[in-house]
Amino acid sequence: MKTLYLKPTEKDIKTAARIIKRGGIVAFPTETVYGLGGDATDAGSAAKIYAAKGRPSDNPLIIHLSKAEDAEKYAITNDIYYKLTDAFCPGPLTVILPKKDIIPPEVTGGLDTVAVRIPSHPVARAFIKACGVAIAAPSANRSGSPSPTGAEHVKADLDGKIDAIIDGGPCEIGLESTIVKLSGGCAVILRPGAVTEEMLSAVVAVRRDRSLYVKPDENTRPEAPGMKYRHYAPDVPVTLLKGPHSDVIGFMKNRLAEDESTGVICLESDKDAIRGKNVRYLPNDAKGQANALFSLLRGFGETDAKRVYSVMPSRTGLGLAVCNRLTKAAGFSVEYVGVTIPVLGLTGQSGAGKSTVAAILKERGAYVADCDEIYHGMLYKNSPMVTELQKYFPFAVADGVLDRPALAEAVFSDKDKLALLNSVTHKVILDEVRARLKKAQEQGYKFAVVDASQLFESGYDAECTAVIGVCAEQETRINRMILRDGISRQKALSRISGQHNEDFFRVYCDEIIENGKDEEQLREAVARAISKYIKE
Ligand code: TXA
Ligand code: MG
Repeated sequence: MKTLYLKPTEKDIKTAARIIKRGGIVAFPTETVYGLGGDATDAGSAAKIYAAKGRPSDNPLIIHLSKAEDAEKYAITNDIYYKLTDAFCPGPLTVILPKKDIIPPEVTGGLDTVAVRIPSHPVARAFIKACGVAIAAPSANRSGSPSPTGAEHVKADLDGKIDAIIDGGPCEIGLESTIVKLSGGCAVILRPGAVTEEMLSAVVAVRRDRSLYVKPDENTRPEAPGMKYRHYAPDVPVTLLKGPHSDVIGFMKNRLAEDESTGVICLESDKDAIRGKNVRYLPNDAKGQANALFSLLRGFGETDAKRVYSVMPSRTGLGLAVCNRLTKAAGFSVEYVGVTIPVLGLTGQSGAGKSTVAAILKERGAYVADCDEIYHGMLYKNSPMVTELQKYFPFAVADGVLDRPALAEAVFSDKDKLALLNSVTHKVILDEVRARLKKAQEQGYKFAVVDASQLFESGYDAECTAVIGVCAEQETRINRMILRDGISRQKALSRISGQHNEDFFRVYCDEIIENGKDEEQLREAVARAISKYIKE
């Protein structure tokens, strides 16, 4: 078959729509990645899509619409669907709904649900409108390889196998849409994307599906069937490196010294530290990483690299989607460097009872690094930390002594000031944490716990084996703060308002420990939470 190359003009979009109406398949740009579209009501078009991609036919397609209400024709909608589409559509969000009969089972891999998405890309929208029918489209790549973020990627994978490609230039986001299913009034994230958990949780309750971190085996059937296949993988095997960033870079340098063709994915900020013919740099920010990742992974196919080592960026916001794709590209292959004993991050709101949980973990044999304690130990008169703080918060230092209440007062109600304080202190604290963990490992500790209220903000979560969040009811937390810190109820409330709410922790932590009043129950919850990561 000769593939037709089309431009995003009105005339060419009409041509593309005619191809769809005749049962053909056309690749088109969206804001996330390129899709390979066919008539969603036609089983024959679906068969052509599967054949062109080399995709297993039990892996369902997403149907693309030009407006949220159009879903009525193809699926059974509900209030949450409209809440979500009002907030985020058109845009990079896909919602799973029960399907109507007009969608043939060939499109949904035999499932009785259908994935619905309303893309925002003007060319995608014009194309869907011109077709006058829902467009079933997976990403327009060879099955298993990274999704195409430019028409040249589609050409490389599918030239001669599909009827046409509409070239709309590079995709703005670069990672596929967020996929949610709706369950018990909750949006359950099956695939993270540019509509982040934080954004979703402003509208509905949110949960993460376990398939996001756990390698599927024969016994687990992932909710999104596509997530069980090796994915996004370049032609070269990828290994993720976890550990202190400097150790990760050191490990990469050693590999490069042994074999100069070693592939490396690190950050732009590492440019001075590490160089090599197959070293590639991701931008430091998650948005830039999302945009660059797939193209960068594809690029390794054209090098002589036999293995690629990659850093693991921070998982907050869009970073979660970046890390998810990297983890899939690596087929869950992770190597720990530097500190190799399991490290559990421990975080949560003030007064939730982190210290109690840390004490229980200590009894169970953990080395505990308490970031609060480390910080306070660095605040002696004229210490390097106090001198540094004086530059940014002059009002809080007199005669080389830090006025901690004044500093606390200033930051607890001001998010910008808190962020500044954090950026000044995190680096110093974390270097101390890393040094202590290395020592603990040498001393024979079997695992370590890093107790940090600012775990995610500091980026340290990326170095943890897993992150445990401690949650407790607000009234319990307030009472604990009043007793522990000797503050008024009013002050406790204002501190709470300056912190992340509980949803944040439920969304970002791997495990949640509910800290009620019963100590026996708490011990059991702790044992349960760590059982997956610590072999005792
Ligand atoms: O951004 C995107 O979503 C892109 C553009 C083209 O819209 N599309 C895309 O499609 O990434 P695809 O086919 O590569 O990925 C669709 C994912 C697969 O993992 C599939 O298993 C899941 O969605 N999926 C589709 N229908 C489903 C359903 N009814 N239930 C659960 N998962 C479903
Ligand atoms: Mg895909």
